[in-house]
Amino acid sequence: MDGDRSIAPQLAATRSDLLRARHVPGEIYASPEIYRRELVEFFGREWLFVGREEQFAAPGDYEARRIADRPILVARDKRGELHAFYNMCAHRGVEVAQGRGNARMFKCPYHGWTYDLTGQLTGAAYMRDSEAFDPAQCRLPPVALRIWRGNVFVCFHSEPRDFDAAMAEFEADFAALHTERCRVADLTRIRLACNWKFFHENLMDFYHVGVLHAKSFGARFSWTPENVSLKPGGGIAIRYDAAPSTPDGQTRFAKAPWLEDRPDSFACTGFLPPNLTLFGRVDCVKLMTAWPLGPDACEVLIYLLFPEEFFADPDFAAKVEVYRAYQEVIYEEDRGMIESMQLAMASPNYAPGRMSIMEKPIHHFLNAYLDRMFGPAT
Ligand code: FES
Ligand SMILES: [Fe+2]
Repeated sequence: MDGDRSIAPQLAATRSDLLRARHVPGEIYASPEIYRRELVEFFGREWLFVGREEQFAAPGDYEARRIADRPILVARDKRGELHAFYNMCAHRGVEVAQGRGNARMFKCPYHGWTYDLTGQLTGAAYMRDSEAFDPAQCRLPPVALRIWRGNVFVCFHSEPRDFDAAMAEFEADFAALHTERCRVADLTRIRLACNWKFFHENLMDFYHVGVLHAKSFGARFSWTPENVSLKPGGGIAIRYDAAPSTPDGQTRFAKAPWLEDRPDSFACTGFLPPNLTLFGRVDCVKLMTAWPLGPDACEVLIYLLFPEEFFADPDFAAKVEVYRAYQEVIYEEDRGMIESMQLAMASPNYAPGRMSIMEKPIHHFLNAYLDRMFGPAT
């Protein structure tokens, strides 16, 4: 692409060793051309976390969404199997389902073609006279779907990368959190006026914690760059110490039963490319995605998970609200920063600054990103 030639020399500065490196040029976050390529290279190829299995508990449970410019429908069929399809009618492509709910079948709102929960076309009015039209050959185009520990992943590519291989590092680092024994207590959706990458970069940026979050959780947070483990393809795992995510740093529940041998300060962060950040604490897990809505906007989803056992607590809702409200305080602190960075990215006056040793995770993430988008460094 033309843009490659103009920014290629600047990318070499990011590809230097961390202690010589600079951040990436603003185009990486502001260019519509780069954005379109990301939709193909990352969102069109990789396994993407789209929700939790328990959100589709009963036969007929479904959810229709638009993610990374693609309409998708996830549904559980009568036999209990979970499917994903492109939400595109086999007639002219209208989305056959909207929102979420429970359905026996899907009926396209435009001309009324109907589909069963496996995506097969079951009815098409006034089509009998259409020559060589075989309804049995018509269906919603399938999208690959797999489950990892209660978490639903889809892949839009026609030949998806091996799922178990894609999850192997994450499994090794985060199996102990037993997300399959947790459930969603709260799902927060936030619109941010910034590039989707800034959301994840901010979560792996521990450099800012002691400054921006000094008054919230910054003082109860302890790590060093040695705690960071870098994975092939841009993945990251960080083990460190941090208090539970409440205003006073005290849990409102207990330790998760499978983390009883860990200290109260047990904390971990994971990044699974391209679009999942995980936070683990002794009492909860957060799963976070940032769905791109253009170069300078994204919709963030934060799944707040607690062990199933905690849901029986008579004060469960009030206690969850403590975690949710505190999470809001923190992401509002972050929001101002990442939306402010976004303004600079479109400015001809922005020149990428040098990196600190504290930015080891971001350096790794950006280098894997550049390898994928522009080819490996030469
Ligand atoms: S577009 Fe769906 S029935 Fe025509
Ligand atoms: Fe932050």
